[in-house]
Amino acid sequence: MESIAIPAQASRKEKYEALFPQLAALIAGEKDCIANLSNLTAALKEALGFLWIGFYLVKKSDSAEELVLGPFQGPVACTRIAFGKGVCGAAWKQKQIMLVPDVEKFPGHIACNTAARSEIVVPILKNGAVVAVLDIDSHLPGDFSETDIEWLQKISELVEEIL
Ligand code: SME
Repeated sequence: MESIAIPAQASRKEKYEALFPQLAALIAGEKDCIANLSNLTAALKEALGFLWIGFYLVKKSDSAEELVLGPFQGPVACTRIAFGKGVCGAAWKQKQIMLVPDVEKFPGHIACNTAARSEIVVPILKNGAVVAVLDIDSHLPGDFSETDIEWLQKISELVEEIL
């Protein structure tokens, strides 16, 4: 596959519906994790826009595990996030999707980019443990809804299979 096809003027839901099978096809037959995560972020960014879309991967550092920046699309971002810190660390700790309509009202939000206004973070679980998070920042306030939760949950299940 060389390009992503998304209907013009489509709603967010229609974009996800068109995108999902293309994401599955994009990673089918490729086993390399970084290659797949890189293509997934590129396809998500191309289809959905947003300010920043990317993965943080749980990695063992000197003493403890932390989130380390993985493949992403958008402005440069902070490289390491501790357990429980920021929206990403909270999604990791709570093993739950975090939907933040206004990042300025989220205690401890880590502002990698001052243009971010709302954010959604989806934990990727493997055998009950969080192994990565998918983080999306929007430059618009309140830009995420149940539609994003529903579809990003499905996308996280695709990602789970390749990690
Ligand atoms: N805002 C995130 C940090 C990562 S950046 O948005 C790319 C957080 O609070 O965890």
